[in-house]
Amino acid sequence: MSGSESETLELTPVIERARSRFEGATTEHELRALKAEILGKKGELTAQLRSLGQAPPEQRKLMGERVNAAKAEVEAAFEARLHQLADAARRAELEAPPFDLTLPGRVTAPRGHLHPVTRVKWEILDIFRSLGFSVAWGPEVDLERNNFERLGFPPDHPATDMQDSFWVDVKGATAGVRALLRTHTSTVQVREMSTREPPLAVVSGGPVYRRDDDVTHSPMFHQIEGFLVDERTNFAELKGVLGEFARRLYGPECSVRFRPSYFPFVEPGAEMDVTCVFCSPDDGSRASCRVCKASGWLEVLGCGMIHPEVFRHCGIDAERYRGFAFGLGVDRVAMLRYGIPDIRLLFENDPRFLTQF
Ligand code: DAH
Repeated sequence: MSGSESETLELTPVIERARSRFEGATTEHELRALKAEILGKKGELTAQLRSLGQAPPEQRKLMGERVNAAKAEVEAAFEARLHQLADAARRAELEAPPFDLTLPGRVTAPRGHLHPVTRVKWEILDIFRSLGFSVAWGPEVDLERNNFERLGFPPDHPATDMQDSFWVDVKGATAGVRALLRTHTSTVQVREMSTREPPLAVVSGGPVYRRDDDVTHSPMFHQIEGFLVDERTNFAELKGVLGEFARRLYGPECSVRFRPSYFPFVEPGAEMDVTCVFCSPDDGSRASCRVCKASGWLEVLGCGMIHPEVFRHCGIDAERYRGFAFGLGVDRVAMLRYGIPDIRLLFENDPRFLTQF
């Protein structure tokens, strides 16, 4: 018996080895890789087929048949395992818990949210809405007249210096008519009063601009303005409305106090303080409270009874009507609320800061 002939007799172990390796494959991918290895160019059976060339001619036919039969068996073993795996996969799919169509989608982009200043602005506007005020808007570029003159600032009033403004060139403007980035939202008061009939209860909010830039001042910041005009309102009502606003914003324990102050468009004018949100009630921490400088009070807004001159500038009968007005800074409320130490952080738009809210 030649060496080649004895090898052909050893094809059974080759087939068995292939079968058991196929059995060990647990995925279709793995199985196909094994098949390529076993039946591929470097596989044992391929080597057998190649060696036929050297076999004596009388044995070649028989050996060829055996090798081909062995190959067919290995292929059949492969197909059988392939079906087994496909069946198992299908069974697993059918037996698995059903696909839940109500599951939320996979998050591919993080969800955004409102800027903390926008959030606080709407919280404040909503409180006034719930007290019966309606919301109005005004432009950020306005006439000097609406920003200063109609509010009772004389042209050379120190406040026009104090609120050092950003002036805007208006092409083709009539001589003497000037425009600026509004320095406060009180512009909305005169705009609303000159276009609508009392009774009025209006709030507005938005950006205002002044040439200021430090830890507590930004050249752009946000105010809320409100006013009420009718035939019978008075300072007691102002105190009632603003006290209720403070309790809704800071909680029922919040108290308010009013200190006389001066603004050209109100008489009398006042500033309202609220009890310090950090050290009230005083648990001994007040003496070292840096937010209220140990006073127990935080200044939150300016207010007063609308000056009759302002009514006259807006075409409202100053004998018949009276009103109160108030203005407050939104950014400061947000800074106190979230413990933000530097106003400029609010406007740098750094996601590392903004995602903390
Ligand atoms: N406009 C004032 C400011 O920017 C704030 C203010 C004070 C508004 C008194 C008012 C008010 O309506 O009555 O400083």
